[in-house]
Amino acid sequence: MTEDRARALVAAIGAPAATAPDASWSGRAGDYLKPVGTRFATFLAQVAGRPAIVKAEDYTVAELRPVRVHREWLGARLASRIGLAVPATRLAVHPVVGRLSVQDFVTGARRISAEELRRVATTPEGLRIMLFDVLIANHDRRPDNLLILGNAVLAIDFNVGFDFAEVPIGWSPTTLMQLWLGIDGMLAFRPDDRQRLDDEAARIEALLDENYLADTVAAIGEAFLPGSERALLLEGLLARRRTLRRWALDFWTQHIAPIHRLLET
Ligand SMILES: Nc1ncnc2c1ncn2[C@@H]1O[C@H](COP(=O)(O)OP(=O)(O)O)[C@@H](O)[C@H]1O
Ligand SMILES: [Mg+2]
Repeated sequence: MTEDRARALVAAIGAPAATAPDASWSGRAGDYLKPVGTRFATFLAQVAGRPAIVKAEDYTVAELRPVRVHREWLGARLASRIGLAVPATRLAVHPVVGRLSVQDFVTGARRISAEELRRVATTPEGLRIMLFDVLIANHDRRPDNLLILGNAVLAIDFNVGFDFAEVPIGWSPTTLMQLWLGIDGMLAFRPDDRQRLDDEAARIEALLDENYLADTVAAIGEAFLPGSERALLLEGLLARRRTLRRWALDFWTQHIAPIHRLLET
């Protein structure tokens, strides 16, 4: 990105570059940002002397795709509001590398194991993650994107969510829920769990009320999310919020209740 464009962005956001690298930095972006992603421009960097996971919108290397970084911030913000553990995330503009999301690197966290994921899937927290991903149309909830720190499960990586114009046909709410639960998760449900699922969906609907969503989307700087896109994003989010409980209950009726009927006979 050109310096002029970078300066314009810094001015638009009205904030100083919050991501200045340390004094040893050579000035070349590649020395500052160490790639960690395999598909997206996700890097490890030192930010204010601490390690951070940095995603870039205006800078990339090799075949990594640039990230719409506002999605990373919005995902973390909304997930935290509904009580999920997420690393602190902010948006920033770097004078050389441009628009970034900057997330605290969680030292000591590790990738969730397949066994842990199976155990977590139908807990209240697991259902919350599942329903949140349905809400934001996030089709990238793989073990890579769940960290374990002590007893806590941290949800990371929201940058393919919120793309409501481009939700692939194969990623319906039903598919997302089936993928999250797997066969084991679907079989683990008991008839009483229908209420738990609905309670979680209702809780998300209440915490992410229309005003909260509107205010949070409005808080994203114009340089990260132009007005035209902003309206579409909010509209998509509000529409999915209105349907979330129905999707959850329909999923139960169509895919879980039949299993219970089968087991009764
Ligand atoms: N906040 C974090 N703390 C520790 N490790 C992280 C953090 N965020 C990401 N990682 C690690 O970096 C990898 C890539 O980050 P991720 O957010 O998943 O980006 P991508 O969109 O490139 O998949 C993750 O799979 C995880 O191993
Ligand atoms: Mg990832």
